[in-house]
Amino acid sequence: MAKETVTIIDNVTGKSIELPLRTGTIGPPAIDITTLYKKLGYFTYDPGFMATASCRSNITYIDGDKGVLLYRGYPIEQLAGKSTFLEVAYLLLYGDLPTRPRLDEFTKVISRHTMINESLKNFYSGFYHDAHPMASMVGVVGSLSAFYHDSTDIHDPKHRDIAAHRMIAKMPTIAGASYKHSIGEPFVYPKNSLSYCANLLHMMFSVPSEEYQIDAVAEQALDLIFILHVDHEQNASTSTVRLAGSSGANPFACISSGITALWGPAHGGANEAVLLMLEEIGDAKEIPKYIAKAKDKDDPFRLMGFGHRIYKNYDPRARIIREMCHRVLKRLGDENDPFFELALKLEELALQDDYFIERKLYPNVDFYSGIIYKVLGIPTNMFTVMFAIARTAGWVAQWTEMIAEPDQRIARPRQVYDGSPERDYVPIELRK
Ligand code: CMC
Repeated sequence: MAKETVTIIDNVTGKSIELPLRTGTIGPPAIDITTLYKKLGYFTYDPGFMATASCRSNITYIDGDKGVLLYRGYPIEQLAGKSTFLEVAYLLLYGDLPTRPRLDEFTKVISRHTMINESLKNFYSGFYHDAHPMASMVGVVGSLSAFYHDSTDIHDPKHRDIAAHRMIAKMPTIAGASYKHSIGEPFVYPKNSLSYCANLLHMMFSVPSEEYQIDAVAEQALDLIFILHVDHEQNASTSTVRLAGSSGANPFACISSGITALWGPAHGGANEAVLLMLEEIGDAKEIPKYIAKAKDKDDPFRLMGFGHRIYKNYDPRARIIREMCHRVLKRLGDENDPFFELALKLEELALQDDYFIERKLYPNVDFYSGIIYKVLGIPTNMFTVMFAIARTAGWVAQWTEMIAEPDQRIARPRQVYDGSPERDYVPIELRK
């Protein structure tokens, strides 16, 4: 069967060319423009990648108009209701849901990698006590390659696998250490008999002098949030990981670059920004003023936790997490707490406002995750760190997929140059 093509007619030169269509299993096909420059002498221009598929991938699928999110084909609603974070991490890494023995083995492998080299702990003493935990996390994760030389040969599938396990396993330990450093408490070693999320709570909140009881609701809520955050196809941080990885950089360095991209308030930093915004609004009667600010094109203020580049329908993750948010509030918080009342009132008023309705700006997953974290007693500056822990499994799956591609090459976008045309050097005495 002949490959489907698209005809491009150049109205400037009258030339016409055929470009192949790349069709996936679901979703819109993409025009393969790799030969466009050679054939017509044009680049394509798409800042922000509004209509550009940067790779082929079989990990995650999103239909933003219908509000669909699939991991390896499984709807997020089914995984959120029935699976666990480590099972979903396995699914992303290896393509299929594990059998019981495979999941047990994977869980054991991950738990065996939870400790970090003792020397790595010394890095924290180089950070000032009030360092943002994301700042120390970027540094510490970036330094992992200095410790784990036996997993940095990206061309060896075994090395890639070990690096993936190490990253997933060590992120909670690094997060716990970042937090403990910021509050001046001793680091807590991982306890491998605990589940992934219980271990994180243990490393963040236990102290050597007291017994610490893991709260089952907190553990369950974290596991759900992590499933919802684990991957989201070619978002800014994942694309950053792929871009860094395309040059052959080691996986630890690549994940560290993903963490930096995640930190921005338009991406993973939004959950922290939501809380800071709610604190700034302060009182439900101030909400109309802030909604007006968000609508004012001369004011840079945006309602944090609202809107999404891809979802122009309700974010399916937000629907799931919203329900969990109410459950957690009922069990661990106080639904009548003025802070939570304020959040829920903002959600209600924004959803009724024409500006938000017309632009399809719905609350996104980060609107609710911040509120849950607050009820769980997780400090605001740790919110994006929590996102990074979950997304690490997605990052390593996407990185592994890219490196394993036989025709993988360095990612190197082009540009439309807007600067001065060629000109001659002027000696300093003659410059005006
Ligand atoms: N508050 C007010 N107006 C908004 C908002 C908002 N939160 N988001 C988008 N708009 C307006 C925007 O001004 C524009 O209006 P107009 O058409 O009149 O110019 C229109 O909606 C489209 O917005 P955009 O900026 O072109 O959309 P984008 O796809 O480039 O940006 C976004 C997506 C998520 C960066 C943006 O909605 C935003 O800044 N939201 C707040 C930050 C946030 O919650 N981010 C977390 C995203 S979910 C987690 C993750 O994936 O990391």
